[in-house]
Amino acid sequence: MSTCSDLCAATASLQLSDAGIPPLSPEIGRTSWTSNVGNLGEPAQVPATPLLRLRDGNLIPQIGLGVLRVENGQTADVVEGALRAGYRHIDAAAGYGNEREVGEGLKRLGFDKGELRKSLWITTKVKDTNQGYDSTLRAFDEQISDLGLEYVDMYMIHWPTPFDWRSADTWKAFRKLRSEGRIRTLGVCNFLPEHLERLADEVGELPAVDQIELHPTFQQRDVVEYCESKGIVVEAYEPLARTADLHAGDGLIDRLAQAHQVSNAQIILRWHLQKGYVLIPKSVHLNRQVENASILDFSLSDEEMAEIDSLNTATRVGHDPLTFSYA
Ligand SMILES: NC(=O)c1ccc[n+]([C@@H]2O[C@H](COP(=O)([O-])OP(=O)(O)OC[C@H]3O[C@@H](n4cnc5c(N)ncnc54)[C@H](OP(=O)(O)O)[C@@H]3O)[C@@H](O)[C@H]2O)c1
Repeated sequence: MSTCSDLCAATASLQLSDAGIPPLSPEIGRTSWTSNVGNLGEPAQVPATPLLRLRDGNLIPQIGLGVLRVENGQTADVVEGALRAGYRHIDAAAGYGNEREVGEGLKRLGFDKGELRKSLWITTKVKDTNQGYDSTLRAFDEQISDLGLEYVDMYMIHWPTPFDWRSADTWKAFRKLRSEGRIRTLGVCNFLPEHLERLADEVGELPAVDQIELHPTFQQRDVVEYCESKGIVVEAYEPLARTADLHAGDGLIDRLAQAHQVSNAQIILRWHLQKGYVLIPKSVHLNRQVENASILDFSLSDEEMAEIDSLNTATRVGHDPLTFSYA
């Protein structure tokens, strides 16, 4: 039986050799994680996860688990449960204060090394207070040690902090870490087009991923259009608007859920999937984690997608990157 990493590598090399260079718009490939989950001695509860190819050629599992607001004392169990269920993508951050426990969850099942490590995508982010060249290098050392890993798949600038801009220096530290094989993909969060342009002007490179607040009632179309035009994959955080969108549209989401015989969360997450976004819903409950990743066996029609599109407003549930910093 082929291993996941064999399949990932085969898919990547096939797509790369076909195209010659990574395409500017992401393509969706599919692979199966089942053989690795089988190594854990139990069947996967979630289906095979689609992969998106990034501009740097790496393949990211399109559905991951977010761990913001997962408490210490609970995080290792939540991560272990999600991995057992078949998740192969965890979205972490220094700012979430639980990287050590994320690492413990990975280690319990052997995802910190070897073939299982290769089957996993782990993202983490540098805190605003640690932006800058030397401070980012020091922060990364601490984070990777807390996670108990030799490398992370994606390291991200958490906020652009335009009023205290240090992203170019931070990026130079990211590049050094990439050249040492300690980061595979470089990303940013909460960057608006003006921040992406400023970064590109100063460092001559665009990130592979921009992780932004995105859900049916806050679609950030200007940011999405800019990213898509530059081949930057959009990653949707707060994809359920922290539950605020579950009954959006005066009964629209409820009606679609009823029509497809799925949950309201699954309708919203399927919309994200069909849009081509990476999505990282958070749940501490195994049944919801399984529900959130089980969105591959139905599809929304063009009309249904357009109905959800029409829910767009200018209202965030999170912070505004023009004014916010954790620093
Ligand atoms: N880069 C950034 O600045 C940034 C900012 C915010 C978030 N993020 C990332 O994005 C991830 C997701 O965002 P988020 O956690 O704020 O919001 P979210 O995923 O939109 O919503 C999480 C909430 O939805 C509930 N939930 C999850 N699945 C559900 C389901 N199937 N049915 C009903 N309720 C469900 C969860 O409750 P239970 O846990 O009780 O199940 C939790 O209260 C974070 O964990 C983090 O990794 C990044």
